[in-house]
Amino acid sequence: MNARGWAGFLGATVVALGLGGGAARASDGIEKGRALAERLCARCHMVPGQAEKRTANEIPGFAAVARRRGQTPEGIVVWLRSVPPMMPNHHLSQDEMYALAAFIMTLGEAGRR
Ligand code: HEC
Repeated sequence: MNARGWAGFLGATVVALGLGGGAARASDGIEKGRALAERLCARCHMVPGQAEKRTANEIPGFAAVARRRGQTPEGIVVWLRSVPPMMPNHHLSQDEMYALAAFIMTLGEAGRR
């Protein structure tokens, strides 16, 4: 292959990896978050019919958390990073916190439709 051929080949490869890889990573994060949530958080936060908390001792459902005004994935990560005393300490890694936040935010979109 001559120099221009290589440049074209490399360029196409970079584009393919860039687009495909990015999309795969985003949905991987959500799937990873879903698996973690089902394993660690579901018994408290994914109870059928669970909504926003109305009294101090209630636990908000994840869909309600996602639909809060101004909620962002970062907001959820900040909460998790603070290791809130009313939740078990799951010793989450940074990656796991972002995956969980991404998954939780998808639940809000589903409810809004
Ligand atoms: C033993 C039950 C329990 C488990 C397990 C649990 N939580 Fe919680 N969580 C709570 C309680 C209780 C609250 C409500 C705290 C409050 O508002 O006083 C809460 C609140 C939250 C909130 C809302 C914070 C806010 O802004 O009000 C988020 C987000 C959250 N939990 C995420 C998670 C994630 C992610 C997991 C799994 C890794 C998890 N929780 C596991 C009990 C639990």
